[in-house]
Amino acid sequence: MNRKEFFSRVGFGAAAALLPACVAGLATSCSSAGENTAAPTSVDFILDISTGSLATDGGFLVSNKIVVARVNASTFLAVSAACTHEGTNVNYVNSSNSFHCPNHGANFSNTGSHLNGPGSSDLKQYNVTLVGNSLRVYS
Ligand code: FES
Repeated sequence: MNRKEFFSRVGFGAAAALLPACVAGLATSCSSAGENTAAPTSVDFILDISTGSLATDGGFLVSNKIVVARVNASTFLAVSAACTHEGTNVNYVNSSNSFHCPNHGANFSNTGSHLNGPGSSDLKQYNVTLVGNSLRVYS
């Protein structure tokens, strides 16, 4: 086997190995814009903030396709989790009190407004009400 034959076979092998990942949606770079970006509707659920991520300022979690973040003991945020670019879940960034998509870098305000980066649509903001350790998230 000469060098040309070797690289020809290796190149084909790599392409054959990646194709199933793209078909299965496992490789994020293969996803299409607009997939899985729909914000949940008719939302109404309760989270316990006494334990887990929401027990600490700056903590956040994703529940029912909504990212819920704790700014401080009396201030919580809730926006649709799926980035409006290609649907990757956004993270809450405590230092800037905003949301960031780790996939391609889109940034959103603490109310979900698109600030910069890929995409142009806002995240949907949800209502929150805290009673004791129960945080109600609703639309
Ligand atoms: S999925 Fe591309 S910036 Fe969020």
